[in-house]
Amino acid sequence: MAKSAEKTKKSKSKKVFTPNIVAFACNWCSYAGADAAGVNRLQHSPNFRIIRTMCSGRVTPAFVLKAFNAGADGVLVSGCHFGDCHYIFGNHKAVEQFDKTKALVKTLGLDERRVRLEWVSAAEGPRWAELINEFVEQITALGPSPLNHKKK
Ligand code: FES
Repeated sequence: MAKSAEKTKKSKSKKVFTPNIVAFACNWCSYAGADAAGVNRLQHSPNFRIIRTMCSGRVTPAFVLKAFNAGADGVLVSGCHFGDCHYIFGNHKAVEQFDKTKALVKTLGLDERRVRLEWVSAAEGPRWAELINEFVEQITALGPSPLNHKKK
């Protein structure tokens, strides 16, 4: 009996960190790319929640900070490649927004590698799967968000 209690205690202390990732994906390209990855049954980490936005340019710093506040360990913003945005310059606006986001993230004391901006088209299911795996790996290496640690 005592041995099993000790075993349980040990397994609790060795709890493996699994990051929570929030991925903002634009409706026209990246969301469809994520969907293509699923339809083609490409293996990728399940550690992310996808939020569909109409354009990557819609993702303001407030969206990203809200995700961190809600418990995200990393946030991905993804949209169409340059020249493919359905709102012409939406992804250029996303770059501007992302610069502000990065600055705010740094101000909060978070590692800027916790946020990422990437372009994934509807035809790039394999790229989406690869990107998710790579980002989850990166956030796992960074560990839990210090903001989540402070909440506990
Ligand atoms: S519609 Fe995809 S980035 Fe603008």
